Amino acid sequence: PPPEPKPASGALASRPPPASLAACKLCGLWRTKAKPIAGAGPVPAAIMLVGEQPGEQDALSGEPFRGAAGELLDDVLRRAGLERASLYMTNAVKHSKWEMLETPRQTAQGQAALRVHKTPAPNEVEACGYWLGEELERVQPRAVVALGATALRALTRQPLSLSEYLGQTIEHDGWLIVPTYHPAYALRTSDAKLREEIVATLVAALTRAKQLAS
Ligand code: URA
Repeated sequence: PPPEPKPASGALASRPPPASLAACKLCGLWRTKAKPIAGAGPVPAAIMLVGEQPGEQDALSGEPFRGAAGELLDDVLRRAGLERASLYMTNAVKHSKWEMLETPRQTAQGQAALRVHKTPAPNEVEACGYWLGEELERVQPRAVVALGATALRALTRQPLSLSEYLGQTIEHDGWLIVPTYHPAYALRTSDAKLREEIVATLVAALTRAKQLAS
């Protein structure tokens, strides 16, 4: 099991709770003016999936995992015998964090991207833990899948290394957490064998979550 969580830092613990997600200023990401994307799915739900942060497509659809990573996730869910409609999906951080480049960068899919994703900082993940905690209480999942290191750290409130916990189930605060890769990791590689290994690890994690939740 991971070590005991540290309590929220003084500044964060003493801040008043935000009136709504749309009005949240617990971290500085509200300044990007991007609309925060709440979790989506049935409440309660036996399985909850936690990603990192909404992508560009998600901002347009208003729901998590509606872009390329979501398509790959849909394939993984099919292979694990799960339906998206039966799951609650959310993110560790509800605002997306990105930067505009002056010159386009080549993606693994051979496209040129001007807007690039940035990993949320630990203080942003900690601040948004307020909303993740609220979702866990509402959704009451029997299994929680952490898609990537940011989700794992958000759920355990510890700076854990994902590779150490792959293939395990962590019990934390009464929640059963299944750590696995983020689906975007499979999209970033052009190595077909590695991609299939990542997808197989994701399918195994979702299958485990399904067993834990049944
Ligand atoms: N879309 C999401 O909602 N979350 C991610 O982590 C990536 C894409």
